Amino acid sequence: MKITAAITGINGYVPDYILTNKELEKIVDTNDEWITTRTGIKERRILKGEGKGTSVLGIEAVNGLLKKTKIDAKEVDLIICATATPDMIFPSTACIIADKIGAANAFAYDLMAACSGFLYALSTASKFIETGTYKKVIVVGADKMSSIINYEDRATCIIFGDGAGAIMLEANNEGLGVQDAILKSDGSGSEFLHMKAGGSAKPATYETVDAKEHSVWQDGQTVFKAAVTSMADVSEEIMKKNNLSANDVSWLVPHQANQRIIDATARRMGVGNEKVMVNIEKYGNTTNGTIPLCLWEWEKKLKLGDNLILAAFGGGFTWGSVYLKWAYNS
Ligand code: UT7
Repeated sequence: MKITAAITGINGYVPDYILTNKELEKIVDTNDEWITTRTGIKERRILKGEGKGTSVLGIEAVNGLLKKTKIDAKEVDLIICATATPDMIFPSTACIIADKIGAANAFAYDLMAACSGFLYALSTASKFIETGTYKKVIVVGADKMSSIINYEDRATCIIFGDGAGAIMLEANNEGLGVQDAILKSDGSGSEFLHMKAGGSAKPATYETVDAKEHSVWQDGQTVFKAAVTSMADVSEEIMKKNNLSANDVSWLVPHQANQRIIDATARRMGVGNEKVMVNIEKYGNTTNGTIPLCLWEWEKKLKLGDNLILAAFGGGFTWGSVYLKWAYNS
């Protein structure tokens, strides 16, 4: 039987500080009712402390993962960090994480696909396992979104939070793990969701800082419409391609950007709410953290052989679905 790439462990980490809707009401012209009905978000976590970047979240998630799986850091072959908020433009956050956790034998790199990054990284990582090239690969989705949020912009500051989740991928001979992935991108969407400055096209200047161009900018409605259509389309497509009916799907694990986007995807798939992982009310949109944070929180409910559909949409535009069979009972 061919080798498949199975998730053999999961861990999540969110920082302690809770930024509630009530607190946001004091910062910008918004209210709990608007945020709750339009997004489903009640609170989000924020990483406080000078000099603390995304790697701090990733290190916590990965160290916990190694402890849970009883795997020595030196056994890890590769670490891919999916992030849109690296500690620095270079070196990669994955290298920083690898060093701090003692993964001396791993090579490490970052992967950038905004909110779809975790799925892109999971799919990429699974190839290293399926080909027999590597035995133990960690994918960590981590973002300190608060570092690129303008807390004067009520259209974006209410959505995002900080968090990280990490998975261990190992070879499986029983057909469990990643079954299929459909990943897509359309760069013409970049004008609707981006950070204007700080990259090579528009390096930081006093003017870019004054104009608050180092934070997330989005045309919310356009992104919303594209997300609803694309996430639902691609999830339906992966079900059809793999002959899965709604009954065959044990869990939908959607990117947590907006409760209404999640509902629309589940509706199109015909999957009932009881099978949809949602923790957006507690964490908001943690970008690359959302999907692994869901898996982490639902781990005890997951059973060997469960069919999971993971789905995401984000900046780029990027989007996709991954179909996997859960590989263990916890
Ligand atoms: O994960 C990355 C991908 N990102 C997404 O998937 C986000 C997709 N977009 C969305 O989730 C939604 O578009 C938002 C949650 C960002 C906004 O919701 P919306 O229902 O699209 O609202 P809107 O932008 O159409 O704004 C409606 C009204 C406007 O007022 P007027 O023009 O109707 O008077 C806004 O100014 O709501 C106003 N508004 C707010 N009011 C209170 C916008 N933000 C707020 C706010 N509090 N925080």
